[in-house]
Amino acid sequence: MKIILGVGGGIAAYKSAELARMLMQQGHQVQAVMTAAAEEFVRPLTFAALTGRKVLTNLFAIESAIEHISVAQEHELLAIAPATADLIAKMAHGLADDFLTTLCLAFTGPVVVAPAMNVNMWQHAATQANLETLRKRGYRMVEPGRGYLACGMTGPGRLAEPEEIVAAIESEARKRHDLEGETVLITAGPTQEPLDPVRFLTNRSSGKMGYALAEAAAARGAKVVLVSGPVHLTPPRGVEVIPVRTAEEMRAKVMENLGPAHIVIKAAAVADFHLSKVPEQKVKKTAARISLELDPTPDILAELGRKKDDRLLIGFAAETQNLVQEARRKLESKNCDMVVGNLVGGADVGFESDQNEVILVLRTGETIPLARASKREIADRIFDQVLKLRLALSAANGR
Ligand code: CTP
Repeated sequence: MKIILGVGGGIAAYKSAELARMLMQQGHQVQAVMTAAAEEFVRPLTFAALTGRKVLTNLFAIESAIEHISVAQEHELLAIAPATADLIAKMAHGLADDFLTTLCLAFTGPVVVAPAMNVNMWQHAATQANLETLRKRGYRMVEPGRGYLACGMTGPGRLAEPEEIVAAIESEARKRHDLEGETVLITAGPTQEPLDPVRFLTNRSSGKMGYALAEAAAARGAKVVLVSGPVHLTPPRGVEVIPVRTAEEMRAKVMENLGPAHIVIKAAAVADFHLSKVPEQKVKKTAARISLELDPTPDILAELGRKKDDRLLIGFAAETQNLVQEARRKLESKNCDMVVGNLVGGADVGFESDQNEVILVLRTGETIPLARASKREIADRIFDQVLKLRLALSAANGR
């Protein structure tokens, strides 16, 4: 694979030389790009000797004015190690004042970031916010290790070991194509069930988990159809979005698009009840008290369970208690292959949050907890498990 290795100006830059050597040894082609600060710690000659290529440093000392663009286009993955607090801030905000940061903006492939810095700089709210921005953008973080730092302090901030960075680079590269040729049908967001022309019943779903899944699937090469309830989110790039409002509309669009789908994920929080005869005029405040008589909406997931054939069907279970039992009950009753269970009602994960913490309940009987992470990161972990599950199920069926 053709990899760009961006080297930031930190003491850990010397470890990046070891990383370059290991990547070369694995058979990759490595183009080192150093910031001016990095050159203060390690000489470009070190990287040139290890990679067999001229190291790119100064934006204005190169042969062509558009070299950063051609370098971006010719390479498949960008790894930044060490990523200093300054580099991370520049990447998060799109600043581009040298070769490496300009290249970061021009690069469209997967990006692996291995931060290294002083513990206070790492814990600073600005750095954490910038890291979150990059995570949400789909960048893969190789978290720094804890330990004794060059500044004399102890804590998180030490560049991850080169072996760990190589493993992240290779897994990121594999992921790029593992859903190629597949069609993934995803539902997201709440539904709105009208009570009259101006009022409706809905729930707290923001759609973020479903949108993160759509973005992850598209990044891994899938054709993605996203049937979305009303949300305030930007559609992910390259995803076909079909907007719907009610459970009935969602059901119709899901069934219409089921044919070519290989994987179906029902992340939407579909309303369970609706008013089957919606008054044509606004309901007036005449009575002292009113009660609503509601009918069940179609259970889309259950219907998919009956029609699934050899598709993989993934449901969601948002619960306030007995998470695993409830998720397993839904898996069985709706004939799913996996149910993603998440506890809702807490303060900072679930519904409107950017983070999530879930438990995957699988048809094989396994239960896999996914530790708290951004929804985009959780989305990738879910697809990792979906693909593993497919292998396990086809092995079990002797196919
Ligand atoms: N679902 C659906 N159609 C519905 C209701 C739910 O497709 N009318 C799907 C959701 O998209 C989700 C899963 O079913 O994937 C949730 O299961 P469900 O049993 O509906 O969960 P709850 O509504 O929370 O059920 P309960 O109230 O019984 O816990």
